[in-house]
Amino acid sequence: MTIKVSLGDDAFTPDLRFTPEVAEATQPIYEKVRGIIPEVEWPVHAPYIARINELKRELNAIVLAHNYQTPEIFHGVADLSGDSLALAQQAAATDADVIVLAGVHFMAETAKLLNPQKTVLIPDLEAGCSLADSITAADIRLLRESYPGVPVVTYVNTSAEVKAESDICCTSANAVAVVESLGVDRVLFLPDEYLANHVAANTDVEIIAWKGHCEVHERFTGAEIRAYRESFPGIRVLAHPECPADVLDEADFVGSTSGMINHVDETRPARVVMITECSMSDNVTVNFPDVEFVRPCNLCPHMKRITLPRILRSLETMTFKVEVDPEIAVAARRAVERMLEVGRGEAK
Ligand code: 13P
Ligand code: SF4
Repeated sequence: MTIKVSLGDDAFTPDLRFTPEVAEATQPIYEKVRGIIPEVEWPVHAPYIARINELKRELNAIVLAHNYQTPEIFHGVADLSGDSLALAQQAAATDADVIVLAGVHFMAETAKLLNPQKTVLIPDLEAGCSLADSITAADIRLLRESYPGVPVVTYVNTSAEVKAESDICCTSANAVAVVESLGVDRVLFLPDEYLANHVAANTDVEIIAWKGHCEVHERFTGAEIRAYRESFPGIRVLAHPECPADVLDEADFVGSTSGMINHVDETRPARVVMITECSMSDNVTVNFPDVEFVRPCNLCPHMKRITLPRILRSLETMTFKVEVDPEIAVAARRAVERMLEVGRGEAK
């Protein structure tokens, strides 16, 4: 079988075939994802997976994949995976020459900040984030004028320019620990309003927030969670802190994407729903066959721009290289490195 995929934006049409060799090489991967990828689809994914894994070896490249990537990426070609904090930690530690970031642009930019000498690639430049788009460096400068002396904590879901204006970054996994690490009474916490509210509820530090929202998580409602509880008695509800407060109030556990996975691992509930992007449950269900996952589906359109054909194009053509202005990079790197010193703190 010959596979021809048009990416729609250029003439990248690799000549790939589902040969017996490809079938054999990818069989162990298919055994893992059999429950979530229909057998009929495997001949489409397998030639890409085989070629990408071959190229990674040739180029000393790794694929870092966020938990929201689709299962054929997450289980098929990712060398390392995790939440935003784990991806930053792994990017800081790798000795690969090339890093392909299967995630969104701010994640690739963070990897580049931590690896200025390495080639960092993002398979699609349009893979953005509504939170990163909600605030600019000029906004932070104005806020600093209004709140002189108040430190600025920014979520990693921001541009390098915004990070460069910040004192320290955080992720959903360590936001409370980062805020408390500063030893002050008040911080500006930007740009996610709902994460800021969640932090405020879990610390004595006064939090001044911004009005940024994640376009995926802001769509969940408390009423939806109550409906899940009615339809699926005994269900355990895990929610990402980018969700609105009425959702978090209804949840049994609030944590980062990896925090949710660890929670399932530690508590092994009979039935669970993860109130977050929908590929997460597909990926996680593979490792917990005894747990029933109820799977609402809110897709992140930015994460979904990353596909196997685009990852292959990225490695074949060394595109798209992520670059950060060196002056901005110095200050942005400092904010990310300060966050890495805090690590996960006590939160998950
Ligand atoms: P995590 O850091 O929890 O993986 O979240 C990243 C993200 O973009 C969630 O929408
Ligand atoms: Fe950004 Fe939300 Fe997509 Fe995460 S899920 S990358 S916060 S838009």
